[in-house]
Amino acid sequence: MHYQLIAILLLAAVTNGREFELLNSRSIVIDDSVSSNLLNETSFFRSDVECLSWCNLKLCVAVVVNDTSKVCQMAVINDESTGQPGPNGSHVTRQLGSPNDFAVRVWKAEDFEAQLKSKAPISDVVFKNSSTGRSGLVQNYTINSTGCYRIQAYGAAGGSTTVVNLGVRPGYGAYAAVNYNLTAGAVLKIVVGQAGENVSFPVGAGGGGGSFVYIDGDTYPILVAGGGGAMSGFTPGMDGNNATSGTSAYNSADTYSGAGGTNGAAGSFGSQFVTNMTVSCGGPGAGWNGAANKCGYNKPGGGGLSRSGGWLGGLRNPISCSNVAGNGGFGGGGAGGGCAASNKFGAGGGGGGYSGGGAGSKSNSGGGGGGSYCSSGGGGCVMVAGANAERHGRVLLRRMGDTCA
Ligand SMILES: *[C@@H]1O[C@H](CO)[C@@H](O)[C@H](O)[C@H]1NC(C)=O
Ligand SMILES: *[C@@H]1O[C@H](CO)[C@@H](O)[C@H](O)[C@H]1NC(C)=O
Ligand SMILES: *[C@@H]1O[C@H](CO)[C@@H](O)[C@H](O)[C@H]1NC(C)=O
Ligand SMILES: *[C@@H]1O[C@H](CO)[C@@H](O)[C@H](O)[C@H]1NC(C)=O
Ligand SMILES: *[C@@H]1O[C@H](CO)[C@@H](O)[C@H](O)[C@H]1NC(C)=O
Ligand SMILES: *[C@@H]1O[C@H](CO)[C@@H](O)[C@H](O)[C@H]1NC(C)=O
Ligand SMILES: *[C@@H]1O[C@H](CO)[C@@H](O)[C@H](O)[C@H]1NC(C)=O
Ligand SMILES: *[C@@H]1O[C@H](CO)[C@@H](O)[C@H](O)[C@H]1NC(C)=O
Ligand SMILES: *[C@@H]1O[C@H](CO)[C@@H](O)[C@H](O)[C@H]1NC(C)=O
Ligand SMILES: *[C@@H]1O[C@H](CO)[C@@H](O)[C@H](O)[C@H]1NC(C)=O
Repeated sequence: MHYQLIAILLLAAVTNGREFELLNSRSIVIDDSVSSNLLNETSFFRSDVECLSWCNLKLCVAVVVNDTSKVCQMAVINDESTGQPGPNGSHVTRQLGSPNDFAVRVWKAEDFEAQLKSKAPISDVVFKNSSTGRSGLVQNYTINSTGCYRIQAYGAAGGSTTVVNLGVRPGYGAYAAVNYNLTAGAVLKIVVGQAGENVSFPVGAGGGGGSFVYIDGDTYPILVAGGGGAMSGFTPGMDGNNATSGTSAYNSADTYSGAGGTNGAAGSFGSQFVTNMTVSCGGPGAGWNGAANKCGYNKPGGGGLSRSGGWLGGLRNPISCSNVAGNGGFGGGGAGGGCAASNKFGAGGGGGGYSGGGAGSKSNSGGGGGGSYCSSGGGGCVMVAGANAERHGRVLLRRMGDTCA
């Protein structure tokens, strides 16, 4: 107390700085959630007041004055709120001072807590897959502070099958992001797309689910990132799209390829399908406005389901021929086609998205990717096709400030 009073009086004369509290505990902890540095000064060590005024210049948050070593040690927090990371190894828990060392005095700056909070790294609330395969949970998140939020979403990848051509891969999920004003108490519905199921020859793999963020009952979603289509043995699945429409299954010129949906509709299967019974028909991806239909013939994969169906992936055809087809991923991915003709691969399911991806409606045909969407009420929209090389999707949420500029 004695030191504290003298210090505050002297400090007022020496600097325009902050006030410091002398800790009876002779010790303070800085946790590893922030990036901190210790600066050790010996050159000017004469008094606590000089050490504290030096701390003011460095904007340090705490000081240890050690009479034995004659060191003035200052703890500085590196500002990571800008997104710029602090030095390597600076995220460590530091105990400054020691309760048992009577030769030290520990001073805490009045803005200690405020600096730790304001300089902490930006952290996202992250939502991941709630399960695997076609089933999953719609996650709820209640906004606790009105403000502008950066929302980012990644769609899931399509399933894979036995690879014949090198370089053939399933479609990857798209990335989409938007800034959006949200009010405290608003409940976000968050659907994290799950990967379509992998299979082995000769059946079709499932399409990947889209990732969706919306408020229940709203006509339009806030953000959607489309899922990727399933690959077939010879042909790739198509990536989740960077536009609102879904993409067609592999080789859009082929009348067996299902077209992607537009304006929030589900994807479709190829128009030629019904004339040729030797082909396998994948399930198209669901869109925001509805579930996808499956084709009427020949061991078809189920279409992905939409909001009213709990965003389940399409159900695979149960008929087994050495292997069973793959279910579509949660988030409206279409299931793979059932048993294909001999020497053929099953057709791939389409990805779920704002508009669904088209189904491969032919042996050897990869599924189309789902479309993405940013609410027109938001700003800073970014959409990138096929940006998610991971299997499942994810959604990230970060408060940016009081209002979107
Ligand atoms: C200051 O001393 C502490 C403990 O003795 C040490 O961990 C830290 O690296 C030193 N800082 C500098 C800048 O030398
Ligand atoms: C930080 O450390 C990691 C692991 O030791 C290393 O890979 C990385 O290059 C370092 N980064 C910098 C900027 O030194
Ligand atoms: C104070 O300095 C002495 C001598 O260098 C050292 O042994 C002691 O650990 C220091 N005290 C603290 C709490 O760092
Ligand atoms: C998410 O997916 C991974 C990889 O498929 C899986 O290991 C994990 O269990 C899934 N998470 C949940 C909550 O099911
Ligand atoms: C989200 O909220 C709905 C409606 O209250 C509820 O039915 C559902 O179980 C919740 N989801 C989770 C993952 O808790
Ligand atoms: C609001 O939610 C965020 C993220 O879950 C959390 O870090 C923060 O502490 C919460 N704020 C309040 C005031 O509850
Ligand atoms: C599905 O296949 C992909 C390769 O495209 C692989 O990375 C992934 O681990 C497989 N998933 C499972 C569940 O085996
Ligand atoms: C979508 O992606 C393609 C290929 O990556 C690119 O050429 C096109 O400009 C992108 N469109 C938009 C609207 O970003
Ligand atoms: C039926 O599909 C097979 C395999 O794709 C193809 O070879 C054949 O030409 C098709 N037949 C008709 C009548 O379209
Ligand atoms: C967010 O709200 C503020 C204040 O009402 C408004 O000025 C701004 O245009 C809104 N921004 C977006 C992106 O909706």
